[in-house]
Amino acid sequence: MTVPMKVDLRKEVAVVTGGGGILCGGMAKALAECGARVAVTDLRLDGAEKIAGQIQAGGGKAAGFACNVLDKASLEQCNAEVEKTFGPVTLLVNGAGGNHPKGTTTREYLLPEDLKGAVEGVTTFYDLDPKGIEFVFNLNFLGTLLPTQVFTRAMAKAGRGCVVNISSMNAFTPLTKIPAYSGAKAAVSNFTQWLAVHFSKVGVRVNAIAPGFFLTDQNRSLLTREDGSLTPRGNTILDPYAPGPVWQRGGLDRRPALAVQPGGGGICDRNRDPCGRRLQRLQRSLMEGRGGAAEGGPWQREGSATGRRKGVET
Ligand SMILES: NC(=O)c1ccc[n+]([C@@H]2O[C@H](COP(=O)([O-])OP(=O)(O)OC[C@H]3O[C@@H](n4cnc5c(N)ncnc54)[C@H](O)[C@@H]3O)[C@@H](O)[C@H]2O)c1
Repeated sequence: MTVPMKVDLRKEVAVVTGGGGILCGGMAKALAECGARVAVTDLRLDGAEKIAGQIQAGGGKAAGFACNVLDKASLEQCNAEVEKTFGPVTLLVNGAGGNHPKGTTTREYLLPEDLKGAVEGVTTFYDLDPKGIEFVFNLNFLGTLLPTQVFTRAMAKAGRGCVVNISSMNAFTPLTKIPAYSGAKAAVSNFTQWLAVHFSKVGVRVNAIAPGFFLTDQNRSLLTREDGSLTPRGNTILDPYAPGPVWQRGGLDRRPALAVQPGGGGICDRNRDPCGRRLQRLQRSLMEGRGGAAEGGPWQREGSATGRRKGVET
């Protein structure tokens, strides 16, 4: 990875939760490239260690740690191990998050025929399982709040530090079918604003980023077919110029939005790129089956804490 701009992070100790995943694995590598000592943490230790190993192989400083963002004891233990290995934490990226099939409706719209009775395999709004909603809210919201409680204490005491939360464009313009995820990410955005004010007297800066679409394990089977071409849902989401009002198609709106290319990353600002050329390139690269943000097509990996094998959208 080559970070397009350089910041000197040699004094920093960064914790990245969900660091074994696609986006946050990339962020962990970028932080290391800028000189930070990086604690790659994940529910899946193997994923965290794999990314940490790749960073070390490239000359960076990193170690993998097992950590469940929903378990305070696990977070405290991880914090103690990170302090022992690298020193007090000064940067936190709250990356663990995702959706769950049980927080997802089958169709984009409720149709009159859906009200006649249950249809096998169809989850309407009325069938959404509270447990699924709870899972998604907990993973994204509590999974941001709890690590912040644990990893920022040393920052607040030292009077310097930085937190980056991972929201989503869904927080601003909800996609159809995924009300739990959209609501949970809106909560993450709201919490970020609250926390930025709350921490303003102790020198800890708080921000969030709202990624658009990256091809990851969680959404690959929903956005692309086996041959790499876009599914109808992928087309709906990625093509802002298809006929019909975009908000009714479940796609992103036309405000400046982040749409990220697989392979090299990169941001599409639709204001600067009114012809959507980068989106077209993105579609082409998907069609050609080019890879995702990390080496080896990590969506091919087995297992997921967030339901990626079932084709979950983010
Ligand atoms: N991929 C996208 O298009 C997209 C878009 C917007 C926002 N996001 C957000 O970006 C973040 C990273 O997503 P990704 O697409 O790279 O997904 P990913 O599945 O590749 O990464 C998520 C990681 O979180 C880990 N994780 C899950 N539950 C955990 C827990 N309880 N404790 C610790 N770790 C846990 C998983 O093991 C996984 O490695 C998420 O917050 C996601 O919601 C993704």
